[in-house]
Amino acid sequence: MASLKPVMLDTSTEVARNSAMQQLEEQGYVLIRPVSLPTDTAELERYLTIAMVLLGRTISKSAAYVTLEGCGDDKPLAIHSESVYATAGITPYFALGCVVPAETGGETSVYNGKQACAIIERDHPEIACTEIEYFSRAYPRENAVHPLCNRSSLRYRGQVPENYIRHQGRGIQDADLYKTVDTILERSLLVRHRWQRGDILLINNKITLHGRMPYKGRRVLVRVRFDDPLNISVRY
Ligand SMILES: [Fe+2]
Repeated sequence: MASLKPVMLDTSTEVARNSAMQQLEEQGYVLIRPVSLPTDTAELERYLTIAMVLLGRTISKSAAYVTLEGCGDDKPLAIHSESVYATAGITPYFALGCVVPAETGGETSVYNGKQACAIIERDHPEIACTEIEYFSRAYPRENAVHPLCNRSSLRYRGQVPENYIRHQGRGIQDADLYKTVDTILERSLLVRHRWQRGDILLINNKITLHGRMPYKGRRVLVRVRFDDPLNISVRY
């Protein structure tokens, strides 16, 4: 694992903002902990949404925000590239902000896609040429085919019914393919972030993948996708 300790930044100055963006490109993610937070939950949701939208103005032309609320899941969310199913291509960057952390679990894991791609090309060339078609229940008109190794990184979503393997090496079973890729991604773990109220995680979706651990209790996050091919809430 390259780093277990997230980077904490105050982005109120230009220098800090530039440093955050540099880390976003080099490390693939950056953790931002605002200096002071509203105590009211609804206010915090608005505050985080605005803060994240403002963060994206130097790296994108638009932002799309949504509140994600869940009340427990005993299974992990499959490791994936954000919006991997979008016909127009993946969203290059996105951010998550924590309004209510789960009672237990619910960590977001971030994986090094470049490292995983290099391991696959070196140790498992028989699966490097795999192509998977991705669909989405939420967006039934969208679908996209991606080669596993794409521009020196990985485009991928772990095994779910909305994946369809279009091309893979002879004699390789689907379950073995997913198990191999998931194992390589776990070896390429950058951070497993345990959420605190007010945390913002800004993620470079071009060079990382992410997933979510099982959790108990209510969990509320705001998600902002930048240059999302499917939705626009704000244009810069
Ligand atoms: Fe995601």
